[in-house]
Amino acid sequence: MSAAIVLGLLGLAGLSQSAQLMQKFAWRAIDYAFPSEAQRMQAMQDGFYIPENNLPVGIEIWKNKLFISVPRWTDKGVPSTLNYIPLDVAYSTSPKLNPYPDWATNEQGNCNGITTTYRIRVDECDRLWVLDSGTVGIGNTTQQVCPYALHAFDLKTDRHILRYQFKDEDVNANTFIANIAVDVGATCSDVHVYASDELGYGLLVYSLEQNDSWRFEHGFFHPDPLRGDFNIGGLNFQWEAEGIFGMALTPRGPMDRLLFFHPLASNREFFVPTSVLKAKPNKDSYRQFQALGERTSHSTSEVMTDDGIMFFNMIDENAVGCWNSQTPYSSENQEVVAKDDIGLIFPSDVRVRYGHLWVISDRMPNHLIDKLDFVNDVNFRIFFAPVEELIRGTICDARPSYDHNGYGHPLGPNGISHLSPAATYPLQPPSRKPIYSYPISNRPYHRG
Ligand SMILES: *[C@@H]1O[C@H](CO)[C@@H](O)[C@H](O)[C@H]1NC(C)=O
Ligand SMILES: *[C@@H]1O[C@H](CO)[C@@H](O)[C@H](O)[C@H]1NC(C)=O
Repeated sequence: MSAAIVLGLLGLAGLSQSAQLMQKFAWRAIDYAFPSEAQRMQAMQDGFYIPENNLPVGIEIWKNKLFISVPRWTDKGVPSTLNYIPLDVAYSTSPKLNPYPDWATNEQGNCNGITTTYRIRVDECDRLWVLDSGTVGIGNTTQQVCPYALHAFDLKTDRHILRYQFKDEDVNANTFIANIAVDVGATCSDVHVYASDELGYGLLVYSLEQNDSWRFEHGFFHPDPLRGDFNIGGLNFQWEAEGIFGMALTPRGPMDRLLFFHPLASNREFFVPTSVLKAKPNKDSYRQFQALGERTSHSTSEVMTDDGIMFFNMIDENAVGCWNSQTPYSSENQEVVAKDDIGLIFPSDVRVRYGHLWVISDRMPNHLIDKLDFVNDVNFRIFFAPVEELIRGTICDARPSYDHNGYGHPLGPNGISHLSPAATYPLQPPSRKPIYSYPISNRPYHRG
């Protein structure tokens, strides 16, 4: 068999496993670095801290800090929503979370601070962007205790530097926003933040320079009615209403960046040039949004490296996939880079920082729909791996002389690459190394 045929077969979703994901942290339950053990005991007595109410969902990395978000899905028991773990000091496998920047900022219902955040993003100017959904609860228990607001922190000084409250017309009665993308232009004041309204089906844009926000609506933000059925972690359930969620930007450069996005209840991927988003909606906006292609899995989170490799979580495959944006977006050009049917149940967020891919998994559906065992099971894990190693030998490991001076659109007008797929096949067959992880419990996941 020729190399090309071998690759063609392996390229079909999920057959190869080239990954060496290393487990950095793992928890049965999340705990916090209270000032003293007495205060921790008091918090547990008061219901200020209820371990089984804490499910981490988002991650971000800046220098020696690993940020972790924990939404408040119950009216009690989550002491802090925006947290970090110092990566540079002695730590255990299951370190306690530290509120960022402090406890006061994380006070529930303090609208100048953060009540609930889902996803957090560091920008190229050492700022942490945090969307406060202002909510307590989930689904039909949701209370909007503060308005949606965007916050920024200066990571060098840990100072809160911005709070922008979204306008009434930016949201609607169904609005639920769990994700943001941060687009830094030529200077640190040229920033646009895009926020995906998953249940209100909109895309909010905030301009730092204009200190203003606006909202786009489009059919591409809606769920696909044929993709509302999910099978994850041994559960079957329907998330039929979930619209636009995951977003990723093409690398910074002189060209107009693209924002990729996809609804959660959908396998489709779309994109829009950011110049369209930066201008407010007008009669021509509609046609600037384009369909790209399909995945074989539902996905929440996606990210693109500076080389134009996209990583995305494959939530019904317990896996992370990759796509080289110089090739057409189709399943033949996507490959699983990490899969683990115990450790990667619901890989909730993926990030690329300093040449490494980071992944957090949290068994979210099992928590929301069923029940996690916080005493015996390992429920939350954080993995990382060097991007180079992860994609070596995969279909994504083909980056023919990328023109960094003028990051061009990899895609033609119809989402079709100017490169023929054949030109991008790597020369060696993919390696098939097993997943590498250190579970702190070998007990397989089970329900009940
Ligand atoms: C909220 O939704 C859950 C299921 O998602 C249901 O069991 C419960 O009855 C609902 N409660 C209310 C007050 O509608
Ligand atoms: C930004 O706009 C809001 C109104 O939406 C205003 O309250 C706030 O003071 C403005 N911030 C700056 C820095 O101008």
